Amino acid sequence: MRTQVGIVGAGPAGLMLSHLLHLHGISSVIVEARSRAYVEARVRAGVLEQGTVDLLNETGVGKRMRRESLTHRGIALRFSGRSHRIDFVELTGGRAVTVYGQQEVVKDLIATRLAAGGQIVFEASIVSVHDLDGTAPAIRFRGPDGRVEEMICDFIAGCDGHHGVCRPSVPAGALTVYERIYPFAWLGILAESPPISEELIYAHHERGFALFSMRSPRITRLYLQCAPDEDLTGWPDERIWQELRARLGDGDDIPALVDGPILEKGVTAMRSMVVEPMRYGRLFLAGDAAHIVPPTGAKGLNLAIADVRILARAIGAFYASGRTDLLDSYSATCLRRVWKTQRFSWWMTSLLHRFHGQSEFDRRVQLAELDYVTSSRAASQSLAENYVGLPLE
Ligand code: FAD
Ligand code: PHB
Repeated sequence: MRTQVGIVGAGPAGLMLSHLLHLHGISSVIVEARSRAYVEARVRAGVLEQGTVDLLNETGVGKRMRRESLTHRGIALRFSGRSHRIDFVELTGGRAVTVYGQQEVVKDLIATRLAAGGQIVFEASIVSVHDLDGTAPAIRFRGPDGRVEEMICDFIAGCDGHHGVCRPSVPAGALTVYERIYPFAWLGILAESPPISEELIYAHHERGFALFSMRSPRITRLYLQCAPDEDLTGWPDERIWQELRARLGDGDDIPALVDGPILEKGVTAMRSMVVEPMRYGRLFLAGDAAHIVPPTGAKGLNLAIADVRILARAIGAFYASGRTDLLDSYSATCLRRVWKTQRFSWWMTSLLHRFHGQSEFDRRVQLAELDYVTSSRAASQSLAENYVGLPLE
C-alpha cells in the first residue's frame, strides 16, 4: 500500500486532516484501532468555537450541524448561590460558541470522507510506525481481515490521541513533555432531563465544581468534580442527581434539576500536557497526541481542529510548490496557540475547583477572583475572547 499522508486515528483531528487534504487534492489513508460504531458513539466534548464551526461550514461538513446545533451567546459563572452571565456576543464583537456533540462531528466527517471515496481502515490492530526520520515512513498494522499490511507514506500524521502509539514511537530524548496532573476528575453523565438554563452554567461550590451543559433541548450533559480514582459503583443515579442539585441549585434564582434516565456515565481524568516539538522527522503530532487540556475550558476538540488546519496548509504548500518552510514552522505555530489555550484551561480549572487542603484564605481569593471576573468588563472580556477561541495565525 502507498499513500501520500498516512494518518493514525479517526478522531476529530485525523478525520478533519484527511478531509482538508482531500480538498487540496492530496491522498490519505486513516488507520483506526476501533470500529466505526465505537468512534461514532464515544461521548466526549460538546462546545465548538466559532473558528471550528466556520471551518466545518466552509469545507462542506456543516449541514446537519446548522440544523441540529444550539448557538450559545454566553455562559453563566455561578458562585455564592447566584449566577452571573458572561455575554460573549457583546464582549467579543459578535462571536459565540456552538453546542454540538463531538460524536456528531465525527459522524459527519466519516460520512463526508466515505462519500468522497476516502479510505478509513477501522478495527486495525498492532498498529506501529517506522522510518520516521527517512523520506518514506511507514505504518504497519493488521487489518480487520487479519492480514498484516505495510503502508508507505510521504508523511505520517499522529492523530491517535493521548494513549496512541505515535508519540511513544519517537526515540527517547527527541521530545520534551510538560505536564500537570490535577488532584481531581469529573464524573460526567448524559441524561434525558429538561435543561434548567438555555446556556452552560459553571458552578463553584464548597462541595466542589459542577457543570451544567446540554446536547439538545431534551438531553443534558452534567459534570461533578470527584476524586481521580472515583469508583462509579458508589454513585447510584439518585446520589448523582442529589449532588448536582446541591451544587448547581444552591439559590432561588434557578429551577431545580429534574431527574431523568441516565444514558451514559463516566469519569474523566484532568491533566494538562504539552509535548515539544510536535514533530519528529516526517511524523507530525496533532490533537490529543500532542497535548491534553483539562476540559474546564472546553478546548480539547477545538485545539485538535486548529492543529490539523495548520498541518493541512503546510502539507498542501509542500505538494503545490515543494515549500518546506510551513512544515518546518508547524510545531512552533501550533505551540504558540496551544500554550495560550493551556493557560486558559488551567486558569478556568484553578478558578472553579475545590482543591484538597485548600485553606479558607485560598477559597476567599477564588471567590474574589470570580467576583472580579464577573464585575470587571476587562476581566469578563478576557474570559470571553479565550472561550470563543483565539484567532488562528
Ligand atoms: P481522539 O478523539 O482521542 O482520537 C484519537 C483516535 O485514535 C481515536 O479514535 C482512537 O481510537 C485512535 N487510536 C488510539 N490509539 C490508536 C492506535 N494505536 N492505532 C490506531 N488508532 C488509535 N474535551 C472537552 O472539551 N470537553 C469534554 O467534556 C471532554 N471530555 C473528554 C472525555 C474523555 C474520556 C476524553 C478521553 C477526552 C475528553 N475531551 C473533552 C477531550 C476531547 O474529546 C479531545 O481533545 C478530542 O477528542 C481530541 O481529538 P483527537 O482527534 O486529537 O483525539
Ligand atoms: C460538554 O458539554 O460536554 C462540555 C461543555 C463545557 C466544558 C466541558 C464539556 O467545559
